[in-house]
Amino acid sequence: MTASPVNASSANTPPRTALGIDIGGSGVKGAPVDVTTGSLTQDRLRIPTPQPATPDAVAAVVREIVKHFAWTGPVGVTFPGVVVDGVVRTAANVDRSWVGVDARALFDGAAVLNDADAAGIAEMTFGQGRGRTGTVLVLTFGTGIGSALFAGGVLVPNTELGHLELHGRDAEHRASDRAREEHDLSWEKWAERVEEYLRHVEMLFSPSLIVIGGGVSKKADKFLPHIGIDTPVVPAALQNQAGIVGAAMAASR
Ligand code: BGC
Repeated sequence: MTASPVNASSANTPPRTALGIDIGGSGVKGAPVDVTTGSLTQDRLRIPTPQPATPDAVAAVVREIVKHFAWTGPVGVTFPGVVVDGVVRTAANVDRSWVGVDARALFDGAAVLNDADAAGIAEMTFGQGRGRTGTVLVLTFGTGIGSALFAGGVLVPNTELGHLELHGRDAEHRASDRAREEHDLSWEKWAERVEEYLRHVEMLFSPSLIVIGGGVSKKADKFLPHIGIDTPVVPAALQNQAGIVGAAMAASR
């Protein structure tokens, strides 16, 4: 018998690798992922998010990433808004013209899902949520606040907990990483805001674990020691690559 190439697939065997692309407010990042291990098989490529981040401009960047890796296999793409059956329903941090766009068609048939949901799926399979059966919340802190809610390991998609109201405003306007930068907050001051937000979420969902993802997960030692809620709060094991990995996983299902 001859050895099969990495991407070989029969009708019954899902492909082992898929290209994951994570669209963020500041960068679009992509890499091929071995979906059986959750590891990137090549260095990721990051291209700044075009401004304004219109559908056509972002689609051009997604195609550039596909071309860079000369990719012909399955592709998964995350989007920083509500996505139902491949169609974008909200766009809080990208151009409003996304609302109503069939992103699956725009990205040439790629699997498209919410960015935090993608990060959550990856964390539940390869990271901190592995084997956890209770209520687990994965919260990503970046340009906005994204959320992925799991009960018994099953995702409730598009939960949008970054838009819970705190002090009469969207929570993400107070406690996202962008808010930290814009208001020039110290890590300690920002942690106070994050803690207040997490207490609210804790009160609503009684999770058994909260996983903090997004760019700040790399700097967990700067703010997690200042957060003291009852629920265990841990940084994402896959850090900022969880979105890429989750996008690839969605594509290979
Ligand atoms: C969006 C979410 C997204 C989060 C993180 C929020 O503003 O509404 O859909 O997951 O930002 O990007």
